Amino acid sequence: MCGIIGYIGARPAGALLFKGLKRLEYRGYDSAGVATLDGGKLEIRKDAGKISELDEKLHFESMAGSMGIAHTRWATHGGVTRENAHPHADCSGAIAIVHNGIIENFQELKAELAAKGHSFKSETDSEVIAHLIEDNYKGDLEKAAFEAAKRLRGSFAVLAVSAKEPGKIVCFKRESPLLVGLGNGEMFAASDATPIVEYTRRVVFLEDGEAAALTKDSAKFYSLDDWKPLEKKASTVEWSAEDAGKNGYSHFMLKEIFEQPQALKAVIAQDEKNLAAFAEELKKAKRVIAVACGTARHSAVIGKHMLDRVAGKDIEVLIASEFEYFADRVEPGTIVLAVSQSGETADVLDGLRRSKAKGARIMSIVNVKGSSIDRLSERSLYLNCGPEIAVASTKAFMAQCAVFYLLAHAMAGKLEKAEGDLRLLSGLVQQELDAANGKMKEIGEELAKKQNAYYLGRGVNYAIALEGALKLKEISYVHAEGMPAGELKHGTLALIEKGTPVFLLNPEDYTYYESLSNGIETRARGAKLFGLSNKENKAYDEWIRLPETIDALLYPFLSIVPLQLIAYYAAVARGNDPDKPRNLAKSVTVK
Ligand code: AGP
Repeated sequence: MCGIIGYIGARPAGALLFKGLKRLEYRGYDSAGVATLDGGKLEIRKDAGKISELDEKLHFESMAGSMGIAHTRWATHGGVTRENAHPHADCSGAIAIVHNGIIENFQELKAELAAKGHSFKSETDSEVIAHLIEDNYKGDLEKAAFEAAKRLRGSFAVLAVSAKEPGKIVCFKRESPLLVGLGNGEMFAASDATPIVEYTRRVVFLEDGEAAALTKDSAKFYSLDDWKPLEKKASTVEWSAEDAGKNGYSHFMLKEIFEQPQALKAVIAQDEKNLAAFAEELKKAKRVIAVACGTARHSAVIGKHMLDRVAGKDIEVLIASEFEYFADRVEPGTIVLAVSQSGETADVLDGLRRSKAKGARIMSIVNVKGSSIDRLSERSLYLNCGPEIAVASTKAFMAQCAVFYLLAHAMAGKLEKAEGDLRLLSGLVQQELDAANGKMKEIGEELAKKQNAYYLGRGVNYAIALEGALKLKEISYVHAEGMPAGELKHGTLALIEKGTPVFLLNPEDYTYYESLSNGIETRARGAKLFGLSNKENKAYDEWIRLPETIDALLYPFLSIVPLQLIAYYAAVARGNDPDKPRNLAKSVTVK
């Protein structure tokens, strides 16, 4: 879960790559580095720390040359140190590489190369790639990269340059994402389009087992199996550089929370034929298993309730990393439905590949068009919510729930109702954002002083309890647990004491009375009860008012908004950067 970028053209590479790293920082941010080539001279600057702080001491902009490669790291193998930061060089200092992924057989490769006299400077798995290329280098970087790639097991997206062949970047990949950006007299390679979209929107996605060789005027594509040339089609990125900026908000997360009314409207713009075909296939499927991680899984749990209540279709929802233990036994007639913002989550991809091999159909709900999950799918529905940069997912969650809402109604032949509901909902979410922000800031600041918080809900609201708790813990580091309200007295109630914050998801729907009783039980043990409801109740210590709505299944959309704001303000009050929580990355491309 690192970000990589390469550039070759006429612009000063140091400045361009540094800017690109800032755009990619959401993929990993514990260390970073840049390598540029100026004629036959390779220079590497790198260290542990956040990119902007690093730039203050390393001055990436001042690096000479108009080509180079760069990396922002989320550590997997080896601690967060300068030595372990990328780019990594070979023994001679002529070859440099950046790598995203995990080389599973790095220990045996390292031992083999060390026995041949190669000396290693880092503890990383990635450094072996530079030495393997060096070992195979006989005056042709492409050939050496091809030979090296044959020896690698695991996942990788690699960019390699050599001072002996200035004017060329070689790229190759398996499992980790990589695309090539096509410019005029300049070429780019990157983990995703965010760092290059301000220069070009024409991109070519590399598939697993593919490679590319870039000069400033050409991009040639090859198969990694035999280095035979490949014809590849370019796609156009549909969003712009402005979409990837903060637009005056203090953090991406806040901006993305406030973009949710727009996201709801954008979801409605589905290709109707595709949506109808998607709905029909789900209806007919013998078995549907939704697989996802984190927030995306929470939206799938909501989707399960929607499909059940609106269309009478029962689906299973599995955590992707657990699905892998069942994926080899799925049967034809099964649809595996991936839900993912990035479309690159390794645990999801693994299960998809394995179940596809067993004859399952793969369908997906994704945000990033052209992502690995999208490309693996026979049919996809898109969130259309633009790039989501903050690690904590907000608008993508809202959009995922909205896609499920459309889908459930399409399956029941009531698409028009759903479209109307989502338009109405967009206005209600806007009202909430306008009215609730100040109060949620106060509650967030109160929560920042606490150790623990609990989130309770039943039925469809249970998923919001999970999501509210995940938001709080991942950015504020306050321990939070989301659970079915009915499960409380089977253990967790023992943890409730005087002043423990409890958030009760309690809209006036089919779960109202039973959830209310569970909330009252916590209050009787001293909890401070925050009731999220459209209806006031004296059982609540604090009432977080939800707007009235016309369909009970719309309440989850309305109850997540205050919980997102509370988490955001708790993180800010604790002095954390909500966009870049410690130890996490936006795109989890390793298992
Ligand atoms: C959300 O706030 C999290 N950062 C995380 O749980 C995320 O939803 C998960 O990693 C799945 O990512 P995806 O949607 O890109 O597959």
